[in-house]
Amino acid sequence: MDKLVSLAKRRGFVFQSSEIYGGLGSVWDYGPLGVELKRNLKERWWRAMVHEREDIEGLDAAILMHPKVWEASGHVAGFTDPLVDCKQCKNRFRADDPRLKGTPGDPETKCPVCGNKGTLTAPRMFNLMFKTFMGPVEEDAAVIYLRPETAQGIYVNYLNVLQSSRQKVPFGIAQIGKAFRNEITPGNFTFRTREFEQMEMQFFVKPGADQQWFEFWKAERMKWYQGLGIRAERLRFHQHAPDELAHYARDAYDIQYEFPFGWQEFEGIHNRTDFDLTRHQEHSGKKLEYVDAAVNERYIPYIIETSAGADRAALVLLVDAYREEQIEGEQRVVLKLHPSIAPLKAAVFPLVNKDGMPELARRIFDDLRGRFNVFYDDGGSIGRRYRRQDEAGTPFGITVDGQSTQDQTVTVRDRDTLLQERVAAGRVGEYLAERIAP
Ligand code: GAP
Repeated sequence: MDKLVSLAKRRGFVFQSSEIYGGLGSVWDYGPLGVELKRNLKERWWRAMVHEREDIEGLDAAILMHPKVWEASGHVAGFTDPLVDCKQCKNRFRADDPRLKGTPGDPETKCPVCGNKGTLTAPRMFNLMFKTFMGPVEEDAAVIYLRPETAQGIYVNYLNVLQSSRQKVPFGIAQIGKAFRNEITPGNFTFRTREFEQMEMQFFVKPGADQQWFEFWKAERMKWYQGLGIRAERLRFHQHAPDELAHYARDAYDIQYEFPFGWQEFEGIHNRTDFDLTRHQEHSGKKLEYVDAAVNERYIPYIIETSAGADRAALVLLVDAYREEQIEGEQRVVLKLHPSIAPLKAAVFPLVNKDGMPELARRIFDDLRGRFNVFYDDGGSIGRRYRRQDEAGTPFGITVDGQSTQDQTVTVRDRDTLLQERVAAGRVGEYLAERIAP
């Protein structure tokens, strides 16, 4: 992991938030390459979940919501972790922190940080939602929360979308947006952070059809990740045992990836039953039933949720793509990202800065950048320029050489096979388009 974290900073994928002030715990910023990677990932998700499906609509709900939403959803009462405080060194731990030996609150149990005996409190529940105040007065009545999941914005808009889009059950609503959790044991780089982005889709189905749709979405989502080029042997499902299930779920599967720190979840597929809409109906007093006029039936739909973390999925892509290889006795670091996800699609290099090569290379670069995110590099040996792009995950290297100025052809180097093909300069755009499309 350390090597990837260092590459991510060096090459401008991910920086620590507020680094010049010493950083802010578990909050990260995306640099020029990172923001492209994450945008590409989100765009592919949006395309697969919204544009390519007739039965799913998009939504962009606000982060701030009526505080009653979080009472109805169960987050005010139940979105908690048991925590233990050290009265001596003031550190705070999750009660299941593996460093804790013995029973917190017991006089013989030692604090894992300061080592003092008997200084740990018994576990107390701590809510993970960030609170703030709306309006000028900081009083209890003005408390609102930063959303801990995007899902609730979909539930409270379910009727609005249904009525304005003329969809019929079964149908879905998809959304990408920020969520916030005051995580107590964050860590592992961008794996668990306090501010993150989710890509969530809620699929509304008739009760009784839920299991079939649950199986459908499980299979679809796994297929989607494999289509991004993630190695199948590093992906698996994990079914939640009854004691792992969230308060809203009847059945849940995680899609897990084998990170260097073990198998961990990066997307959850949940059968949320009619829990959410029933609760919102009770708390808001508004009827949230679906009326099927054709058969004269009314019911509260069941919800199958696919909930992915954009940051966690981006981390999966980086970890999976990172390779160290020996090429002709030299080591290279390469990110084997799927071309559709790679931040830069190609780099254009004049072999040397003379004999008409820079002029032709610039013309090709100017032509390509209207369609693709491309990079121009004329600094250093061609070998070093290739290596720099390998580290950035750029799938194609276009070199203008002596022959190019004679016959208007260039070489295109494939990042993974290292093979070079000669292509007419005027056809490079088409060549890239054919290979970048997912
Ligand atoms: N709406 C259901 C829901 O939010 P979740 O399992 O708590 O379910 C879904 O979260 C996904 O959101 C996770 O699989 C993960 O990818 C992402 N996620 C959750 N907490 C996160 C955190 N603290 N940092 C980064 N990603 C997180």
